[in-house]
Amino acid sequence: MLDVNHIRKDFPMLSGKKMQGFPLIYFDNAATTFKPQSVIDAVVSYYTDQSVNIHRGDYDLSYQVSQAYEDARETVAKFIRCKSEEVIFTSGASASLNLVAYGWGKKHLKENDVILTTEAEHASNILPWFDTAKATKALIEYIPLETDGQLTLENIRKAMHSRVKVVTLPHISNVLGYIAPIKEIAEVVHEYGAILVVDGAQSVPHIPTDVTDWDVDFLSFSGHKMCAPTGIGVLYGKLDLLKAMDPVTLGGGSNARFDVTGNIIMKNPPFKFESGTPAIEALFGLKAAIDYLSNIGMEEIMNYEHELKQYLVSKIQSFSHITVYNKEALTGIVTFNANGIFAQDAATYISSRGIAVRSGHHCAKILMDEMGTTETLRASLYFYNTKEEIDAFVEVLRDITLEKCVDLFF
Ligand SMILES: Cc1ncc(COP(=O)(O)O)c(C=O)c1O
Repeated sequence: MLDVNHIRKDFPMLSGKKMQGFPLIYFDNAATTFKPQSVIDAVVSYYTDQSVNIHRGDYDLSYQVSQAYEDARETVAKFIRCKSEEVIFTSGASASLNLVAYGWGKKHLKENDVILTTEAEHASNILPWFDTAKATKALIEYIPLETDGQLTLENIRKAMHSRVKVVTLPHISNVLGYIAPIKEIAEVVHEYGAILVVDGAQSVPHIPTDVTDWDVDFLSFSGHKMCAPTGIGVLYGKLDLLKAMDPVTLGGGSNARFDVTGNIIMKNPPFKFESGTPAIEALFGLKAAIDYLSNIGMEEIMNYEHELKQYLVSKIQSFSHITVYNKEALTGIVTFNANGIFAQDAATYISSRGIAVRSGHHCAKILMDEMGTTETLRASLYFYNTKEEIDAFVEVLRDITLEKCVDLFF
C-alpha cells in the first residue's frame, strides 16, 4: 500500500508552498512533475563532485562518469525491459518522436505509403509525421475514435491495409487518459508488416512498461513527466530498426571515423544517435527518479492514481454545471469543463484558490474538434496527490460560476 504522507515528505515542492495565499495543490502533472530530493541530490552531486564530460576524457574521473552514465542507461533499459543498446537518450519525448519520424520515416517511407495515426495525437507526435509525409509523398490516415474518444482494437483492424507502413499513437492520451491496448495493437500492426511507434509520454511515468512483452517497435518518453529533470528523454527502438535508421544530428561522439572527402562511418546504436554533449546531470536525475519510482512500485502508482481519479469523478459527476469527458479512463487524468465558462477563465479562478490545473487544447488540437469543444480543463494527478487535495478542489468546483471567473461587472 502506497504511503502518500510519507512520500510527500520527499518532495520539496510539497512542503508548505503557497499560491495566491492558499496551500499549493498541483494537478498539472501531465505537463510536468515535481522532483523528489533524491533526484535533486543526484543533479547537484554531478555538478559538485563529478562535473566532467563523458566518453571523451582519458582520465579517471571521466571514465567514472562515463561508466555511471552507461549504468544509468542500464537502469532505464531494465525499467522498460529492453537491451541497453536499444535506449537512446534525447532531450525529451518531442525529440524522440522527431527522431523516429525523420530518422526512420524519411529513410523508409515512399510515395503512397501510409502513416496511420489518430486525431488524439499530441503535436509532438503528429507534426513531424506531417513533415515526413510531405517529404516522402506518403499519406496520413486516421484511425476513427469512438464517440468518447477511445481508441479500439476493432477500429485499428478496420483501418489497417497493405499500404500502412507505420502506425503511430499515444499509449495514454494526454487529454483523455485512456490506455490503448498496446500489446494487441502491436500484433495487428505486425500482421500487416508495419511498425508501431508508441508515444509513451503519459504512460511510462504512470503504469508498468514492458516493451519486449508488448513487442512495440519504438517508444518515446520524457524524464520530467516522471520526477526526473527537464532536458532528458528516451527513445527505445528495436535494435535492427535502429541499425537501419539514420541519425538526424551529426557531430562529436556519434561517429567512428570521417575523412577529408566527407566519408562518415557512424558508431553502432545507441551512440550513433547521440551527437554532442548530453544533459549528463539530467540523466543522473532520471536514474534517481527511476530508482525512486521502482521503489514505490509502478503497479502501486497506477492503482493509486486510478483510485484518486475515481474519487474525484465520483464527487463532481453529479454537479450539473460540470461536464466530465473521460469518466471511464483508468488513469489519473480528468478532463472537464465548467459549463458556459471559458476554460482559461475557470483555470485562472481555480488558481486564485491555490490549485494548478491546465486549460486549453493540451497540444492535441485536432482532438478538440472531435470532442466538439474548443478547449477543456484538465486535472492530472500523480502518486503524491491526496484525497484531501481533491476535497479542496471539489469545494472550488462546487460553487464555480461565470461571475466568479470573469469580472462581469468591472
Ligand atoms: C502525449 C504527449 N506526447 C508528447 C509530449 C511531449 O513531451 P515533451 O514536451 O516532454 O517533449 C507530451 C507533453 O505534454 C505529451 O503529453
